[in-house]
Amino acid sequence: MIDIHCHILADIDDGPKDWETSLKIVRLSKSEGISKIIATPHWVQGTKWETNAKEIIKKTEILNQLLEKEDIEIKVFPGMEVAITDRLVDLVKSDEILTLAGTKCILLEMPFRSLPFGLEKIIDEFLSNDIVPILAHPERNADFQNKPAMIKEFVQLGALVQVTSTSFTGSYGKEAQKCVIGFSKLNLIDFIATDAHSPERRPPLIKEALSIWEKYSKGNIDKFIAEGYEKLGMI
Ligand SMILES: [Fe+2]
Repeated sequence: MIDIHCHILADIDDGPKDWETSLKIVRLSKSEGISKIIATPHWVQGTKWETNAKEIIKKTEILNQLLEKEDIEIKVFPGMEVAITDRLVDLVKSDEILTLAGTKCILLEMPFRSLPFGLEKIIDEFLSNDIVPILAHPERNADFQNKPAMIKEFVQLGALVQVTSTSFTGSYGKEAQKCVIGFSKLNLIDFIATDAHSPERRPPLIKEALSIWEKYSKGNIDKFIAEGYEKLGMI
């Protein structure tokens, strides 16, 4: 199982402060059945979180070396969780912004209040440049919570949908939970990821979320995971 959204690298954003804490998160991920993790530090232009792609690649290598040393069978890949701004396509092309594990997919952070203006146009621009946008945790956005079926519009344009595992169990409130169950019933979820930040406060739990998804979507977990790899282009 692959976790495509996880703040696992030490001392780069609001994730773990040190490598020891990173390793704690990885061990928990492993106990949940996860074998691959894409490290997705925040990238927010013009803020302290305008992270550097080369630094992310370097820290991913460090973590993989630590995992080998500790004999933990998990592989980590570099990525980013990108906050929407202008010129994103150019920034991907110039390697300033990382896609997920070197695939064509980019993880786009959805804000918690209203949706980014012109999201349709942004999706379209990515796709016409052969980049596939994945909308990160739309169930935590107020507009989608008011009308979960609205996600269809963006899926039809070609965007993929990633929800946060712990939204299923109510960690982000009743509205997010209701919304993610709504998406499940409509069968519009492409990825369930942990968005883990810490071993305690925001841990990498996923098993329970998958069984809730299975119940409401009437889908098959193994097939869902296999299709996820295919959509990412990591077969
Ligand atoms: Fe995140």
